[in-house]
Amino acid sequence: MNILFVVSEAVPLVKSGGLGEFAGSLPKSLGPLGANVRVMLPGHREIAAVHRRAFQEVMQGRVEIGGVPHPWRLLEADVEGIHYYLIENAYYFGSSTLYGYGDETERYIFFCLVVLEVLPGLQFAPDIIHCHDWQTALLPVLMRNSRQSGSRERTMPSILTIHNMHYQGRDEKGQFRQWLGGKYDEAWSQTGQLHTGGDTAAKNDETVSCLELGLVAASRVTTVSPSYAAEIRGEPGGAGLSPVILTRQDEVLGICNGIDTAYYDSMQDHEIVFPYKSWAGKRANKLALQRRLGLREDGAAPLFAIVSRLVRQKGLDLIIAQLSQLLSLGIQLAVIGSGEDYYQNFFRSAAVQHPESLSVHTVFDDRLAKQIYAGSDFLLMPSLYEPCGISQLIALQFRTVPVVRLTGGLKDTIRPYNPETGQGNGFGFEDYHPGQLLAAVGQALEVYHDARHWAALQHSIAAGDYGWGNSAMAYMHLYKELWSSSENQDS
Ligand code: GLC
Repeated sequence: MNILFVVSEAVPLVKSGGLGEFAGSLPKSLGPLGANVRVMLPGHREIAAVHRRAFQEVMQGRVEIGGVPHPWRLLEADVEGIHYYLIENAYYFGSSTLYGYGDETERYIFFCLVVLEVLPGLQFAPDIIHCHDWQTALLPVLMRNSRQSGSRERTMPSILTIHNMHYQGRDEKGQFRQWLGGKYDEAWSQTGQLHTGGDTAAKNDETVSCLELGLVAASRVTTVSPSYAAEIRGEPGGAGLSPVILTRQDEVLGICNGIDTAYYDSMQDHEIVFPYKSWAGKRANKLALQRRLGLREDGAAPLFAIVSRLVRQKGLDLIIAQLSQLLSLGIQLAVIGSGEDYYQNFFRSAAVQHPESLSVHTVFDDRLAKQIYAGSDFLLMPSLYEPCGISQLIALQFRTVPVVRLTGGLKDTIRPYNPETGQGNGFGFEDYHPGQLLAAVGQALEVYHDARHWAALQHSIAAGDYGWGNSAMAYMHLYKELWSSSENQDS
């Protein structure tokens, strides 16, 4: 079975967060189960030269957007065992940052138009197109309305996986019409009955989003955890689009993410100062980390990590509200991640005030991030909402104990430690409230200071499997189901 992933980022080529980790790792786990997955993404300028050099041009052409023809080139290469396609265009993807330069929607409309154009010419005939998030959500819409009525794309099943409902690719309807010309009216005739409610952006009838159109058009919709699948059926989880989710006759399927456990292997990783397997082996890494970050070198001080994009979603406001109380408990905090200026500035200036207990890096660095996972006792992740979350899985794999807000995928992957049974793999709280965060950290510290409980907690974490295992099988199951129904349709 041939599956084409169409996505805006994928490791090891380029990543801004969990989406890239997902798209780079799931295909590797699907191969052994019988799916031949190839991955298509924009040829972002950020892709490192070491990878880019491997790519060869296979096609080129032009597509019109807003009546203006724009050239594109399709390149392909095998990278670490996965076949990748890059769609290049210097105007849309030649800038040095991945997202956020104002013309997002137009860039990804262009990308989807080119994908549709190259599909028939590929030396690879996908049975299913698997799209991810708003950037590629328009593709199922365009496929359905594809000109040639007998074309394969028109009947090819599509899956849209939601990694985050809050990013939608929303714009004025008139603007969409201008970009897409006749294609807009075709797409709209099918999905235009939509009436979305919810947040203010979606209430505005003059606008529409790539995500909502894709949610209507895709053959199946999935998201990255069962709890998030339930949350987006209402508000605020649905970010204004819960009515669209509810119109789907099939329920949105929630499948939890896994991680690439071969990549995150604390025994084999040469980026980890002292490779280790169990909790005991972390101590030397902790001292090395404290030294590197300029924190007080103290093996007994509980060290908490925040490895995160610095955005509101990640619950940073709770940490800001409690920072002095947290530090007064004698903990140390290592923060790594980039994001909004407000959060970057706050943490940077707090680090100046507390040099021995707070370290902040606002430029993401994979190597340092791994050393932080390896050297820390806890990971703090009090997300406001979390479709799945990947950092908590990496933390568990590194025997670092997650302290999380029990929302979305965090609720599905973290079971709070129960001192009565000795079961559980972290600590959690439910209400988005600074006092609750503090209470959960308090519980975590109690267990940390109690050797018997700490050993039981570590034992239960070590028994877990954080790879793709069952989730890869769930995707396979879905692919097979869609495949057999499309075969039946064809015959
Ligand atoms: C997004 C979500 C995160 C999820 C990731 C991969 O980054 O915010 O929760 O784990 O996508 O699915």
